[in-house]
Amino acid sequence: MSDDSLVEVRGLTKHFSQNDGLVDRLLGERKSVKAVQGVSFDIERGETLGLVGESGSGKSTAARAILRLDEPTAGTVRYDGEDMTDFSKSEMKAMRRRAQMVFQDPASSLNRRKTVGQIIKQPMEIHGLYEGERDERVNELMDTVGLPPQYSNRYPHEFSGGQRQRVGIARALAVNPDFIVADEPVSALDVSIQAQILNLLDDLQDEFDLTLLFIAHDLSVIRHICDRVAVMYLGEIVEISDADQLFANPQHPYTKSLLRAIPEPVPELARQRTVLEGEVPSPIDPPSGCSFHPRCPAATEECERIDPDLESVEGATAGHRASCIHVEEFVAGEGIQADLDPADERFSVEGFDAARTTGAATDGGKSDGPGDDERR
Ligand SMILES: Nc1ncnc2c1ncn2[C@@H]1O[C@H](COP(=O)(O)OP(=O)(O)OP(=O)(O)O)[C@@H](O)[C@H]1O
Ligand code: SF4
Ligand SMILES: [Mg+2]
Repeated sequence: MSDDSLVEVRGLTKHFSQNDGLVDRLLGERKSVKAVQGVSFDIERGETLGLVGESGSGKSTAARAILRLDEPTAGTVRYDGEDMTDFSKSEMKAMRRRAQMVFQDPASSLNRRKTVGQIIKQPMEIHGLYEGERDERVNELMDTVGLPPQYSNRYPHEFSGGQRQRVGIARALAVNPDFIVADEPVSALDVSIQAQILNLLDDLQDEFDLTLLFIAHDLSVIRHICDRVAVMYLGEIVEISDADQLFANPQHPYTKSLLRAIPEPVPELARQRTVLEGEVPSPIDPPSGCSFHPRCPAATEECERIDPDLESVEGATAGHRASCIHVEEFVAGEGIQADLDPADERFSVEGFDAARTTGAATDGGKSDGPGDDERR
């Protein structure tokens, strides 16, 4: 673990046992969902690591296992140098103050029977912090996330989707954490509002010196906010790299497919778009060898047998690793090429840059009243 690492994940594994059918039980076969399979990575202090992959690739399970919201099946997580596996109940509670989570769907993650003020105050009460100054802190936090403090006595349903996510972020910040796991925090929001929330998270990270694990299934969302990106497929990390490098010089065929699948705003180019074919295979019975082989355009017979390790990519920047036995051939130009322009506008969230330049807050942040987007 380097001195700069806040979180060190090693061999993290999470299997869920299945409700076996009668036949399986008679045959004595116990099946499990192999949601996360020996994942290892570090998150440096103050950085944003993006975790990206299709639905079902194990992103949320990995995040929950890191925070021990679900007990890992195997592997270790060190937080600020200490092995969390050995934490006592009180140490775990202290850890939970330091590591907070922002969820995908602000509508379901906020208690609809409580006012937003009560919601933001609750973590302070649980951790016994800021006694006597909690109301004042609620007002400050609402202001920080761009919500009018005078609405602290309103209920979540009185706010727009984007504003509710601002409440979720204020709640996460309430106990002054140093690590935030944001699990698809903008996926439930309109694209224009996504840009607002991404800008907010980006600004807050600087302001509060936060370390962020940012989960998304869309690489375009990842680009602007992440320093490094880990790409996940069927419970494993298949590529990890500095974010700029990942977009400029992707190595793993799965990463290339994800980049090509980014929605194309220009209709003429949309026809050239390559869509990744097939579903993610079942994590109950993953494919042999390289688990991507049934969908990989570069797969060979060897790929069905050899399970590649996540290894440094020769000639790439330090820390760029990929798990593919043919990766060197791609570098040498013998295999499929990335064929991607790093300046491609597909890799930007529509409105992100515009919103940053103009400071526009289309979801009603810092407005006079609750906004009006259709996901309210
Ligand atoms: N509690 C559970 N019991 C059984 N299987 C589970 C459980 N939680 C997740 N899984 C399975 O583990 C796999 C990984 O799920 P996970 O929710 O971590 O994926 P994800 O990458 O976060 O997907 P999404 O983008 O849809 O949120 C899936 O096959 C899912 O069905
Ligand atoms: S190991 Fe083979 S199947 Fe797997 S990503 Fe590389 S080329 Fe594709
Ligand atoms: Mg998820």
